[in-house]
Amino acid sequence: MTSRHGNNRRPAVIGGARTAECVQNRPHGSKRSGRFRSRPRLVKIPKNSSPWPWHNPVRRVDNTGVAKPSNDTKSNSRAELIAALNQDLEREYQAIISYVTYSQVLKGASYMNIAAELEKHAHEELAHALIVAKQIDYLGGMPAVVPKPVKTSEKAEDMLRFDLDNETTTIRNYRERVKQCDALGEYAMAEQIRTILVDEQDHQIALATALGIDPPDNSKS
Ligand SMILES: [Fe+2]
Ligand SMILES: [Fe+2]
Repeated sequence: MTSRHGNNRRPAVIGGARTAECVQNRPHGSKRSGRFRSRPRLVKIPKNSSPWPWHNPVRRVDNTGVAKPSNDTKSNSRAELIAALNQDLEREYQAIISYVTYSQVLKGASYMNIAAELEKHAHEELAHALIVAKQIDYLGGMPAVVPKPVKTSEKAEDMLRFDLDNETTTIRNYRERVKQCDALGEYAMAEQIRTILVDEQDHQIALATALGIDPPDNSKS
């Protein structure tokens, strides 16, 4: 196709917006005839910039001729998700340590049942840590290696209350994480987090029952 500018194909001006032919969609070696001649693809180019799409990678076009949006926002959101999951992982390490310790030091006949339950929780928290670390690695992050601080006490009731508070914080964070994963289209990851949430709510109920109180209302957190 020879434009009115000769063989040097320059962008046409349509409706005040500069446009250029999306010539990269034309098969290699094909002649400029037939449908390519009669139906040139056009792509909008911002004012005050190069008219040639290949001069600016941000304005690359796909085979539909539509400019690809920058995915910077998505990259930022994934980085935020990695950071948040690492916080979750630190809480899992904290839970492992506290359950391992508390399950062994709880004394008294009235606490024997819950001590056995806490030992079971310790195993489940390790499984959670492995799941979370796997998600972080999948996203391209490096899993954290330092736990959140673990409180200690001589009193059995204090230990159970520390665990209950930690579980409530953990549940609140995982509920947020499910929304974050869904927003990024990471539906499988959201499902993995949901399975952890089921365990955490069981832990929360067991601790509240041992303390003789109602479990916190997680929908209000
Ligand atoms: Fe956990
Ligand atoms: Fe837990």
